[in-house]
Amino acid sequence: MSADPSGEDMRKIAASFAELLHLLGHDGKAERPKVMRDLLVDRLRDALDRRLPSLPDSEPAFIGNTFLVEAVVHRNERTEISRLRHRDLGTLHAMKTVPADRANEATIKALLLREARLGMMLSGSNLVAPQCTIRLPDGRPAIIMQWADRSLSQRLAAGSLSSADVKAAVKSILVGLGAIHQAGYVHGDVSPANLLLGGNDFRELKLADFGTMVEHGARYSDFDIAGVATPDFTAPELAVDTTMQFSADLYSAGRVMNLLVSHCNEIDETIIAVKAAALHLADPIPAKRPPDVAAALALIAGI
Ligand SMILES: Nc1ncnc2c1ncn2[C@@H]1O[C@H](COP(=O)(O)OP(=O)(O)O)[C@@H](O)[C@H]1O
Ligand SMILES: [Mg+2]
Repeated sequence: MSADPSGEDMRKIAASFAELLHLLGHDGKAERPKVMRDLLVDRLRDALDRRLPSLPDSEPAFIGNTFLVEAVVHRNERTEISRLRHRDLGTLHAMKTVPADRANEATIKALLLREARLGMMLSGSNLVAPQCTIRLPDGRPAIIMQWADRSLSQRLAAGSLSSADVKAAVKSILVGLGAIHQAGYVHGDVSPANLLLGGNDFRELKLADFGTMVEHGARYSDFDIAGVATPDFTAPELAVDTTMQFSADLYSAGRVMNLLVSHCNEIDETIIAVKAAALHLADPIPAKRPPDVAAALALIAGI
């Protein structure tokens, strides 16, 4: 078969297209209302975009008549993350909300609103900041944010990193963390699932998930945020209820840096320096860690 469709094929495609266009705009002889026609066109466009083998039966779900819900990509007992497509701009977004069966629980909704408020106050190129916060028809709050293709954990599972990737990733993580500390907050869960990557450029690695963020010096027991941190990445001093210090995030950042090094396929001066810095940051004794993000960045200034 040649790469280009033959003249006969093109004539068939054109005729089918004309018929399809007519069907989208008409119900029998009657013209369809514009809203209905647009909805059908969106469903068709979505099926073509996603190379689906056929048009899905189910009615498409729209949020605020604006965002098409393409898929739920993550769900646990507190969180549901969906991928949305803006029907006019064509842009992808992520929506974070609480599971539908918990729509009536005041505490979990209040925590998500708190997360939205904190996230919207932050700014920084290495943070996944919310774009807006909306209320779903069933009353659940939802955070709309920019879409990222994958988390760092997914990226690491897909293949090894170069030394340049590690260098860029470490800087991105520390710069993102610095913006949060600058605002007076501790992130609380710096871990591979909370670091998101839009493409393949680790200079664009962004820290996400502000659900565990608390003011420096606060305690988790003051909120309902218990038991959410990630084992292996959480500072040992958090095993008991304690005041949250910036140094706890530095420990987690050190653990992530160590993980990056272990996924790197090269050993050069950068990797040796990052490995040493990672050990320093992830010291089990908080007082032995670098005092702040600036000091952590200084450890790798030469790479
Ligand atoms: N903006 C986003 N773009 C793409 N995927 C995302 C986005 N935000 C979250 N995810 C996916 O959903 C997962 C959970 O999101 P997160 O905000 O960390 O929820 P939780 O509070 O349950 O930990 C992430 O690890 C990532 O895989
Ligand atoms: Mg998370």
